[in-house]
Amino acid sequence: MTQLSLENEQAHISAQSIVPRPIHYLGSKLRVINEITRSLDSVESTGGPICDLFAGSGVVSAALAKSRPVIASDIQEYSRVLCSAVLAPAPVTDHYVSVLNKTILKSEFREELLFAFEPLIRNEERVVNEAASGNSNELCCLLEHGSLIAFARSDDRPHSCSQFDSMDATLDKLESIGLTSGRDAILSRYYGGVYFSYRQAVELDNILFQVNQLEEPIKDTFLAATLSTTSDVVNTVGKQFAQPIRPRDRSGSPKSNLYQLVSRDRNRKVLDVFREWSFRYIALTAPKFDNTIVRGDYREILSGDTIGSARAIYADPPYTRDHYSRYYHILETICAVKIPDVTRVATKGISRVSRGIYPTDRHQSPFSIKTQAPGAFESLFEGVRGLSVPLIVSYSPYAQGTRARPRLMTISEITKMAGDFFRAVEIRSAGTIAHNKFNSAQHNTERRFDAEVLIVCLP
Ligand SMILES: C[S@@+](CC[C@H](N)C(=O)[O-])C[C@H]1O[C@@H](n2cnc3c(N)ncnc32)[C@H](O)[C@@H]1O
Repeated sequence: MTQLSLENEQAHISAQSIVPRPIHYLGSKLRVINEITRSLDSVESTGGPICDLFAGSGVVSAALAKSRPVIASDIQEYSRVLCSAVLAPAPVTDHYVSVLNKTILKSEFREELLFAFEPLIRNEERVVNEAASGNSNELCCLLEHGSLIAFARSDDRPHSCSQFDSMDATLDKLESIGLTSGRDAILSRYYGGVYFSYRQAVELDNILFQVNQLEEPIKDTFLAATLSTTSDVVNTVGKQFAQPIRPRDRSGSPKSNLYQLVSRDRNRKVLDVFREWSFRYIALTAPKFDNTIVRGDYREILSGDTIGSARAIYADPPYTRDHYSRYYHILETICAVKIPDVTRVATKGISRVSRGIYPTDRHQSPFSIKTQAPGAFESLFEGVRGLSVPLIVSYSPYAQGTRARPRLMTISEITKMAGDFFRAVEIRSAGTIAHNKFNSAQHNTERRFDAEVLIVCLP
């Protein structure tokens, strides 16, 4: 990139001075943000602090922080990182970003990883080229069996995959440089081939390695840029991390559009995407107020000290059986300091690492478990009642006859229960929200329009 185009890029990003959508996120409230902020302003008109108890991607907290202090909390560490980068941005110069990006590009660790993964990178280039010319058999194999950790831990090896030789060669090379275990090559070893190209996974690991050496609060800024990059380049339908691309149709033949399904995402240049995100994060202006960002279960937060100053609570809990921790597990792995153990599934008596390479200890939200959801709401209402402040709950009603995922509670069940804890309960429409949903029958995205309601509870 020339100096002039780099400056243009920076100027353009500075002009935006916001991160409108830090990650691709199912259930983001971006499209109904005005309705949410208006409703919160109507129940808390003094400009006092508001706690966003299930902050997720942080977009509601970011919108609220323009006019009042915010306490953002969520059970997931990646949410804390995103909120920290946006609500309490570290002062970082353009020069710092340029130096960091140079360090990332020139690092020895990157050379080592490229050396180890060279057999798999080369094999991937070959099979993608073959797919471009109409033969996708080997690409199917790569997508279905590409995870090195799954390969190393499986007893059976499908005989028709030529890339297994490259996997053996890569494992040997990793062994020679002491990287077969530990956190340092985790994205390449676990998710390379399946969610990202091997080259992309290596670049992400290298970025993470360098970012993990930074001090707080700067570290959160660049971890957030790493999360945004990962979310941008991941090669799945809908950009979540729950279901890798299924390369075959029902008859077991390679999908006719397989090359198109993989080539766009896998050709994204990770270092370029990371640099763009880095500039976007550092262009954020200093917040007007002191915001607080914490990670925690909502029940602990409600009974702890952090929330003491909150004048109102906004709660946007999950409303389907789908656990957020499954959809975003790779983002959590990036931020968590531990190495995930991965789930296994047994088919026809053979146990294999799960296709999505999910961690065994993913957070299970009570809001996403049918038998626990009523108790989860009761704890929410009880906790907020103890604070004597207004509460606004976002929830999406289930429209019978649609293909939307069933909700775990109905709006009338929630409002009836809220009535036992609050003086007044009112339902407001927040309009409709378009979600890209995964269509399990066709493994394709489809747009669904879910109604959103705000349940306003006054003490
Ligand atoms: C619907 S999403 C929030 C979306 C967010 N408002 C946005 O627009 O990005 C629900 C969030 O609840 C969080 N969550 C689930 N169970 C939780 C719990 N027990 N305590 C705290 N957060 C929880 C999930 O991690 C997820 O980020």
